[in-house]
Amino acid sequence: MEKVEQLNEDVYKMLSASGYSDKAIRYFQEKENIGALENADQITDLTGPCGDTMKVFLNIEEDRIDEAKIQVMGCPGAVASACALMGLAKGKSLDEARDLDLDALYKELEKLPDKKIHCARLAIKALQKAISEFQEREN
Ligand code: FES
Repeated sequence: MEKVEQLNEDVYKMLSASGYSDKAIRYFQEKENIGALENADQITDLTGPCGDTMKVFLNIEEDRIDEAKIQVMGCPGAVASACALMGLAKGKSLDEARDLDLDALYKELEKLPDKKIHCARLAIKALQKAISEFQEREN
């Protein structure tokens, strides 16, 4: 247990020194909203130019996102962005969720290193792709 705490502390220091806010580090360490949904209404994956991949799972009730999870093969910026974005998307209508942009995500994360902007963009694009695919299928 002590070893885990020491490891978390070391990771915290490294991420903090490279420009992550405490809130973004908490998202990365707690990994809330990471995972899969059984019987999801929509499953969509997207690979970014960096080679990292995100897979979005949505449960949708009457045009509203009831539950959202995501799997991430990627860096701490990708994990923090993905976790925060799923939290923001939950409970929103599909149109509201598709409008979640970099500003909204950055407001939630408070700070990522500048060179991690593309990680936040990847999360946003993955969610937008999932919503578009769902709507195309339904219409
Ligand atoms: Fe690829 Fe962060 S480096 S998403």
